[in-house]
Amino acid sequence: MITQQTIQQILARIDIIDIVGSFVRLKKRGSNYLGLCPFHNEKTPSFTVSPSKEIYKCFGCGRSGNTIGFLMEHEKYSYVEALKWLAAKYNIEIEETSSNPELRLQQQLADSLFIINSFAQQYFSDAIFRYDEGQDIAAAYLKERGFRDEIIKKFQLGYCLDKRDAFATAALAAQYNAEYLQKAGLVVLRDGQLMDNYRGRIIFPVHNQTGKIIGFGARTIKKNDKSPKYINTPENEIYIKSRILYGLYFARRAVDYNDECLLVEGYTDVISMHQAGIENVVASGGTSLTQEQLRLIRKYTSNLTIIYDGDAAGVKAALRGLDMAVEEGLSVRLVLIPNGEDPDSFIQKSGVAAFRKFVLENKKDFILFQLDISAKEAGLDSKKKADVVNQVAETIAKINKAEDFTLQQDYIRKCAERLQIDEQGLHNLVNQFIKEKVQKEELRKTGAAESRDKNITEKQVDFSDEAFNVMYQDELQERALVRVLLNYGSKEFDGSQTVADYIFLENLDEETFKNEKIHELLLLYKQKYESEKKLTTADFTYLPDNEIVRLVINTTNHPYELSARWNDEDRARTINSKIWEYNYEDFKRQVFQAENAAEVIYSRTVDDNYRSEVEDVMIYLKLKKIKRLIVLNEEDLKNMNADQETIKHYQEVHIHLKALQKELTLRKRTVIYPF
Ligand code: UTP
Ligand code: MN
Repeated sequence: MITQQTIQQILARIDIIDIVGSFVRLKKRGSNYLGLCPFHNEKTPSFTVSPSKEIYKCFGCGRSGNTIGFLMEHEKYSYVEALKWLAAKYNIEIEETSSNPELRLQQQLADSLFIINSFAQQYFSDAIFRYDEGQDIAAAYLKERGFRDEIIKKFQLGYCLDKRDAFATAALAAQYNAEYLQKAGLVVLRDGQLMDNYRGRIIFPVHNQTGKIIGFGARTIKKNDKSPKYINTPENEIYIKSRILYGLYFARRAVDYNDECLLVEGYTDVISMHQAGIENVVASGGTSLTQEQLRLIRKYTSNLTIIYDGDAAGVKAALRGLDMAVEEGLSVRLVLIPNGEDPDSFIQKSGVAAFRKFVLENKKDFILFQLDISAKEAGLDSKKKADVVNQVAETIAKINKAEDFTLQQDYIRKCAERLQIDEQGLHNLVNQFIKEKVQKEELRKTGAAESRDKNITEKQVDFSDEAFNVMYQDELQERALVRVLLNYGSKEFDGSQTVADYIFLENLDEETFKNEKIHELLLLYKQKYESEKKLTTADFTYLPDNEIVRLVINTTNHPYELSARWNDEDRARTINSKIWEYNYEDFKRQVFQAENAAEVIYSRTVDDNYRSEVEDVMIYLKLKKIKRLIVLNEEDLKNMNADQETIKHYQEVHIHLKALQKELTLRKRTVIYPF
């Protein structure tokens, strides 16, 4: 671990304009700097950097963060990598604390494997050029497949001589440890002797996100070889199959830039496509995608396009896990290539223009595609058709991020149209699945056992389509809490206490929040507040967790934000939420006196209404808590074994909770929430 002292040293040196300015052309605009956003395509600049706040924010795509966050986002560094990059830039020596010995040992082992892999890669790459066998067999093979020298160099392809232990001998002579060589999968022990594992094979090095080699794929080029086509590195400290996407290192910038990641099956597909100028491509190795791989893609883009061999029996299996992709917030499209071709053979045969055209014309939305296949399979069988409807509703229900709300609506419309069923009916069904999910979550959180799931299904009858609103409101209200705390935390609330005091009076436990980051941020605030009392937003823009930083920046108001884009949407939102606070005469007077009516409304929101904002948010959270208690109480009431006395007691609790709920609902003036 990097010591706190070093981190402080680095933070003290950071000049955000200098760092961001080395990636983006910035122009001074008032006290801030403005440029074209590097994260999305734009023609007029909306990317703002504030040197005083040491943050950046794009008003086009909404990305924001601090200098470290910028490096993490733009260069895809981890937090530690970003710190190391800055340290190198500012010539700061990094001090690391000795973490626990076990971890250190593991780190050492990983480092050794990286060094061995790097040696092996160079050895294998050289072999193509240094030996006749390399030229006659490997170079000839690659040439025949259409791979040119630059691409062979770029992907660091190599060849392992078809000798028993040529590589092993060279590695041992260079003092590499026999045990590690085996762990790296480069050699195997046969009859007490080390033997090369990849004899006579073309070597495809596999890189991690920072370009270091974590392992190899080795393809046989012998005719009539009975052994597997590829031998891959065995799982070890650095080669963890579930987290690998071949080619990601070479693809990341293009994926970012195109805001789309193409996924193919094979090593050679990735290389061929690169050679043809399509660089936003990675390979899965033909297995179905893991959640870790999906998250990796999600770091760069939310658009995944899968290009698979349409004839392969594996396609269905590969697609099975893709509901997971939807849950991860990816929008997935599918291109199936017929006639046993893969992207490599397609491009070699018909050229890249034809390939691009084919992909463009055959891109199908994954959810709709799945729907079409199963609908076709179901035919006229009404039972099967009902299953299809259920299945698609369940998938759509998984699109659960508040920001994907319209996408969800869109799918409901399209799917209803395709299935020729009533849109409202599908809508209700999707809602049912959402509610089921929400309730399961609530139950899990309140600690009730899974076995009670049956009860929930029975309860679904009284469900209306308000679940959407509930979910959306949760997110908004939780953010509102962050906003009032950060903006007004130290302001006086009611004479005896501050806003923060008032908020922390309540025991806002983890279960209160859908977004766990918000809870984390509250704990941080509370901790800091106890020692420092006067906190500002700036106290929270330099946390290591970029997600939290983003939350802080995006939920609070910055003065420069107002002038940069105090847009109609903000204005409308403010007016909509606050207009009924005004007495007409009062309002008229203020508007006449002011230059700009919107500012009257806005300033009033900020300065006069913060107390009611705080109250509103707290009432919402209290209502949520009460609802949880009511669910628990209902569980108790169902307990058959309880005696008369206890049941009476439970009923009293019920009445009490309902009364509280009613009172709070009445006090909450703004919106009527569905409970
Ligand atoms: P393919 O059989 O489609 O191979 O397997 P390919 O990549 O198109 O290779 P060429 O064009 O025949 O040379 C797709 C991917 O599945 C993995 C590899 O990652 C391969 O690139 N695979 C395949 C294995 O790991 N082992 C195997 O034995 C076969
Ligand atoms: Mn192929």
